[in-house]
Amino acid sequence: MTHRIITQTDAQTRDLGFRMGQAITRPVSIALTGDLGCGKTTFVKGLARGLGVDRRYPVTSPSFTLINEYPAARGLRLCHLDLYRLASVEELAHIGFDDIAGTDAVIVVEWPALLKDDRFAFDLDLVFEFDPEYHRIISFFAYGQTGANMLSTIFS
Ligand SMILES: Nc1ncnc2c1ncn2[C@@H]1O[C@H](COP(=O)(O)OP(=O)(O)OP(=O)(O)O)[C@@H](O)[C@H]1O
Ligand SMILES: [Mg+2]
Repeated sequence: MTHRIITQTDAQTRDLGFRMGQAITRPVSIALTGDLGCGKTTFVKGLARGLGVDRRYPVTSPSFTLINEYPAARGLRLCHLDLYRLASVEELAHIGFDDIAGTDAVIVVEWPALLKDDRFAFDLDLVFEFDPEYHRIISFFAYGQTGANMLSTIFS
């Protein structure tokens, strides 16, 4: 079953992210798919707080750094990537991606196309779209049991 939520404000998108962050108890990988300005980073700002990233760490867009890392609660850390400026998947090695995949990292990726093409196994894909009123339509797709369990926690 596909879940779909419409948010009318950036605060609503942050709240949704917060709920997802709260539901994360172990390493997962989440793709955030959608055009410029559709709310991906806004969502991660909420997700980070729900995951217990301390308020003294401002959550900013990794569009230039490519990756931002934050210590989180429950023995996890948040690795927030934005691959918009990544020219090839080989460059991921330079930003240390191989060292975070499969560890204690919650991996959240904006502009994930290169990783998807490389068959990286995301647990969840969140697709952001604009509606005619400029609200955001956010659709949740789960791959495998981990993703499905998370969605049932959030939407139960
Ligand atoms: N319902 C909404 N949800 C999310 N953001 C919204 C919403 N309504 C308005 N906004 C505004 O839209 C902008 C979304 O920007 P954001 O940086 O989150 O997008 P993004 O998808 O990460 O873009 P990019 O691909 O450039 O990284 C913000 O300025 C935010 O305040
Ligand atoms: Mg962004």
